[in-house]
Amino acid sequence: MRRAQREPMAGMPERVTIYEVGPRDGLQNEKSIVSVGAKAEFVRRLLAAGLQTIETTSFVSPKWVPQLADAEELIAALGEDAAGSQRPVLVPNERGLDRALEHGLSAVAIFGSATETFARKNLNRTVAESLGMFAPVVSRAKESGAWVRAYVSMCFGDPWEGDVPVEQVVDVACRMMDLGCDQLSLGDTIGVGTPGHVARLLEGLDAQGIGVDRIGVHFHDTYGQALANTVTALQHGVTVVDASTGGLGGCPYAQSATGNLATEDLVWALDGLGIETGVDLEQLVQTSVWMAEQLGRPSPSRVVKALAG
Ligand code: HMG
Ligand code: MG
Repeated sequence: MRRAQREPMAGMPERVTIYEVGPRDGLQNEKSIVSVGAKAEFVRRLLAAGLQTIETTSFVSPKWVPQLADAEELIAALGEDAAGSQRPVLVPNERGLDRALEHGLSAVAIFGSATETFARKNLNRTVAESLGMFAPVVSRAKESGAWVRAYVSMCFGDPWEGDVPVEQVVDVACRMMDLGCDQLSLGDTIGVGTPGHVARLLEGLDAQGIGVDRIGVHFHDTYGQALANTVTALQHGVTVVDASTGGLGGCPYAQSATGNLATEDLVWALDGLGIETGVDLEQLVQTSVWMAEQLGRPSPSRVVKALAG
């Protein structure tokens, strides 16, 4: 299989942690029902390809996201592979946290919104009400020794509200991190961000004391900007990048959201830059080819198309 020619670039990190969201962000939006067995196999194949941080599922209301209503069954099927601080699950409320803790999980992610409209659509709450819902989740999760990530969605634009001021995103991000979260993930839910915008937001967060050592970036690729935005974030010192194998993904409560940055596209770029990820690109591409067969449609990833064709 062809490999990217290795040509490092000054100012880049030596190692990047790929935070794989395919099983969660990828599969939460699939129209067809993916069996628990196929989901478990997907996670196992991702592990075999060298991915270590994998968001496996969501403990949200099954009425809101029926695609992930089998979260308990999946966790049981994965056994030890679902455990530990590198297998987070999404939890919106204490009910979700209880479900995660009952299954012995020790990493959770809350998910807020920079905009009022998306907070309402995704969580049935205002931004302030959703922060009130998250507060006991974070404090109880921390008391139980769990690792907690805070997503902020609509950081670069909102399908209903349009442009989102950087100050508004920084404000919500600070309020989420003040709850005691370990990591912040900046969500470009609808994939509209551009590199200068990424730089401004990172600078704005840094000015308020949230440095790049606590930040991950989460770019959907709707407008083809995800990789350019990622490179910009790396140049600013970010070392945690969210991606979804095969470019699966989207948000059922944001119609204009398409898939995440494809993990294969990210690995190709990082391999070329000589940045360590621990991921075997060939095994990852084979996993996407297999997943495409399960879903009955080809992967949108450019690298998967180029290498598997
Ligand atoms: P609500 O309707 O206001 O809540 O929803 P509720 O408390 O009235 O509960 C409604 C029903 O759900 C009740 O059942 C609850 O028991 C049940 P009923 O009494 O009607 O039979 N319920 C639950 N069941 C299981 N687990 C739970 C749970 N909570 C309530 N945890 C709620 C509020 C937060 C629950 C709802 O809005 C929800 O689940 N939203 C999740 C939406 C979601 O998962 N969206 C996708 C993930 S976010 C995303 O993709 C963006 C991200 O990728 C970053 C980016 O790209 O920007 C992270
Ligand atoms: Mg997302």
